[in-house]
Amino acid sequence: MAANKKAPDTMEKLVSLCKRRGYIFQSSEIYGGLTSCWDYGPLGSELKRNLKTFWWDSMTNRRDDIEGLDAAILMHPQVWHTSGHVDEFVDPMVDCKTCKARFRADQLAESRCPKKPSKSPLECGGELTEAKNFNLMFKTFMGPVEDSSAVIYLRPETAQGIYVNFLNVKNSSRQKIPFGIAQIGKAFRNEITPGNFIFRTREFEQMEMQFFVHPNEDDKWFEYWREERWKFYQELGITESKLRWEKHEEDNLAHYAKAAYDIQYEYPFGWQELEGVHNRTDFDLSRHMEATGKDMRYFDERFTEKFVPYIIETSAGCDRTLLTILVDAYDEVEIKGETRVFMRISPKVAPIKAAIFPLVKKDGMPEFAKKVYADLNKKFKVFYDESGAVGRRYARMDEAGCPFCITVDGQSLEDQTMTLRDRDTMEQSRMTVDQIIDFLDKKIN
Ligand code: GAP
Repeated sequence: MAANKKAPDTMEKLVSLCKRRGYIFQSSEIYGGLTSCWDYGPLGSELKRNLKTFWWDSMTNRRDDIEGLDAAILMHPQVWHTSGHVDEFVDPMVDCKTCKARFRADQLAESRCPKKPSKSPLECGGELTEAKNFNLMFKTFMGPVEDSSAVIYLRPETAQGIYVNFLNVKNSSRQKIPFGIAQIGKAFRNEITPGNFIFRTREFEQMEMQFFVHPNEDDKWFEYWREERWKFYQELGITESKLRWEKHEEDNLAHYAKAAYDIQYEYPFGWQELEGVHNRTDFDLSRHMEATGKDMRYFDERFTEKFVPYIIETSAGCDRTLLTILVDAYDEVEIKGETRVFMRISPKVAPIKAAIFPLVKKDGMPEFAKKVYADLNKKFKVFYDESGAVGRRYARMDEAGCPFCITVDGQSLEDQTMTLRDRDTMEQSRMTVDQIIDFLDKKIN
């Protein structure tokens, strides 16, 4: 077997596999598609749901110092003035006077001219306008009147929903500092240059956690959360050598941050941000306190005076993490002159945990296999397949990221055991259905 991992055309192959196997489809495809919007199919939606559960378990259920929240996407428009997003959530952009295409002024060298794709807008000869700031927030109107008093924004980050609920969560949960609030939800950004499949889109989901700490302890918690978030990707099975930290230098810090590090992944299109860990200081709570007059300061018997908590934020893109899982899992293997694709997705998040095959469609094997399917299906997402040669069935499940295939054969009817084949080690072992349930439980949970 010769492995040929991560060839330059991996993204093209991945996009095509995602469509063919039902992970991800272009949005509104039958109408010609909507740029930068993607729909998750049967395998993709299951993978995404598993990823969100994995994050939620790790950030809330397995900890007693973090509470969950599910805030509305639409918020009072003043929130975005207070947070600084109306004035500062901008990218500089330029227009080409010849072809009318629009580019990020700070990414001209990496951009491609739509008329001459081999050239960047600096090389194609088109004259560019002066750079103008372009606000990335989507606007709409609330209610029947479409005037400026009815303007409302689609949130560009989930974090603000957490800050405006800080007092509600603190008071109702009786958490004491340090504690966190976690949320998963949609965010929208009118990106000038979306692209690279689901890497940068205009509608996406974030998995964010805001940890409220005493101002004297911000550096300690910042380091703590950097370590925790690194471990998260290890637990998810992402190749460690493909991850690295990137520090935001002073001139590249967001308007709210004192310190920021990105976890980057080496995608087929280069090293790019996967998640950010930020020290947002007391910027957000102080601004909301000032704007609303609500006292966001914290006090309990352990402290001598009231203080506005500092916030350590961990901010991951759900879609981007899913892309990372897919890219990292993609593996091509040459078997007997045929190139086979294995999606080596961790059993913890794999869309289908096991497939059950009768070796042949006779001699009582389908009946036995269907009974095994019914037993496993009570606990796990499993799949029954009896169509085609058994080798083809294995190949289909390898592409679907299914970590285990269980084959019922003649011996199964005699001793109740069947063969469980591990996608990644190719090891095969005979087990009863109870042993398989225990085995899957350990691998998944
Ligand atoms: N609350 C802080 C915040 O939103 P960010 O660095 O702008 O920080 C956090 O975004 C994460 O959200 C990124 O690391 C990325 O994973 C994801 N993200 C941001 N913009 C995205 C986009 N246009 N498409 C997909 N994911 C995006």
